[in-house]
Amino acid sequence: MAEETRTAEFEHYSSVARFLHWLTLLLVAIMAVSGLVMVYRGKDLNIWDQLTNTLYSTHKTLGLALLAVVVVRLGYRFAKGAPADEPSLEFMHRFASHATHWAIYGLLLGLPILGWIGISMFPALSAFGGLKIPALTGPDPETSKQVLWLHGTLAYLLIVLIGMHVGAALFHHVIRGDNVLRRMLPGLKSRK
Ligand code: HEM
Ligand code: HEM
Repeated sequence: MAEETRTAEFEHYSSVARFLHWLTLLLVAIMAVSGLVMVYRGKDLNIWDQLTNTLYSTHKTLGLALLAVVVVRLGYRFAKGAPADEPSLEFMHRFASHATHWAIYGLLLGLPILGWIGISMFPALSAFGGLKIPALTGPDPETSKQVLWLHGTLAYLLIVLIGMHVGAALFHHVIRGDNVLRRMLPGLKSRK
């Protein structure tokens, strides 16, 4: 009975919002791994073989696909909103989670755009053999270095924020035992 009351007290994210959330996780994981490995192989080890090229091509094309997903996700978020905060959260928890979520959204939007501007200026617009990505700006190799440096630095910031975000989700679920994670994973069984 107590569980029924507790469960009835919080709203889930819609299935569309959940689908977009977990799709974003999949794409960001591929982006982070491909980005780190391709720069390590190409720039640090100076290995420019088939694998490095494939990693760059994957990074560029999937990055643009992720940008499209993020635009759809933000459009959906602004149009439909999100469920009310989990009721047991104190002000500081609400504030910290909203601030982190909006910072993550900002980076999810800004990072691919910076990457796209960077490869337009470099210019390094080809991917997977013949595929040509449209340029956003004219060539400017000098500035491209700074843009891509900023892209890489912000990517590390995104990875840190996501680490905090995942830590917070697990803290809520395992330590506090509240319903924060269940809002995003409704199949999750209650531990109490
Ligand atoms: C690339 C990885 C991830 C990104 C970019 C991401 C991003 C986000 C964003 C932007 C929101 C806010 C949704 C909104 O209200 O509009 C959110 C919510 C949420 N995320 Fe993630 N997330 C990621 C991975 C994860 C993982 C691995 C978990 C679980 C361990 C998780 C658990 C949650 C939960 C529980 C919420 C809802 C929080 C609430 O109730 O307010 N996320 N995520
Ligand atoms: C959210 C999406 C993205 C994430 C998380 C991401 C992440 C990363 C990471 C972690 C690195 C390695 C940084 C380093 O170790 O110096 C990197 C480098 C790079 N990314 Fe992305 N990236 C994203 C989107 C894009 C897009 C859309 C493009 C181009 C269309 C792009 C182009 C590049 C390029 C060219 C580099 C190499 C930079 C250099 O040589 O210093 N990225 N990215």
